[in-house]
Amino acid sequence: MSFDRSIKIAPSILSADFANFGAEIRAIEAEGADWVHVDVMDGHFVPNLTFGPPAVKAFRPHVSTFMDVHLMIAPVDPYIEAYAEAGADMITAHIEAGPHIHRTLQAIKATGKMAGVSLNPGTPAESIEHLLDLVDMVLVMSVNPGFGGQKFIPSAVEKVRKVRQMIGDREIMIQVDGGVDPITVGPLVAAGADCFVAGSAVFKGGSVSNPSVYGENIRAIRAAAEAAR
Ligand code: DX5
Ligand code: ZN
Repeated sequence: MSFDRSIKIAPSILSADFANFGAEIRAIEAEGADWVHVDVMDGHFVPNLTFGPPAVKAFRPHVSTFMDVHLMIAPVDPYIEAYAEAGADMITAHIEAGPHIHRTLQAIKATGKMAGVSLNPGTPAESIEHLLDLVDMVLVMSVNPGFGGQKFIPSAVEKVRKVRQMIGDREIMIQVDGGVDPITVGPLVAAGADCFVAGSAVFKGGSVSNPSVYGENIRAIRAAAEAAR
């Protein structure tokens, strides 16, 4: 993937039918998703458990766009290689997951994958100042990670604005994750975000047998985002 600042919608399969991931991934892509966002949780860094490397590897053949793997795990370093081998295109790690995020990001880059750094809602924008030359993306969490369907935390908008200022003319995307919908996306775009994870706002009301609803939901978020540019 080459860098650009186009609007990207990345549905989180945390909100998909867990008995039918292959079909769900194919459906959201056919309905206009730009990326597929995979939320990896360990029951320790966050209070929920999801996908190990074998699950992510099983998703891979169904993804024809871009597989964006969000690691909410600690420690993270011992698993980077496994998620890279499972087929991630982007691997994002949390700054709060350990004392050596710089080393973690170096390890992600060493796999040849794109690297993202994520900040929880309570972590200041300034904390990534010395990491910017190592990352392709900054993920600003707009909920406390762990679950889909939570309420958007409005202070994420100011954080995006600060991060975009810090990035300056570097080629770095800003992703926002949590409570993103056609209402919350506008101010985020205006503040400088370009990539949007959405779980409930994409999957609500649809299914693999009624996938056009996914398309309507994705188009509604994209239209609101484009309108705010
Ligand atoms: C939160 C996850 C998100 C989540 C988003 O821990 O990282 O990706 O699934 O879900 P919604 O869009 O429903 O807030
Ligand atoms: Zn996520």
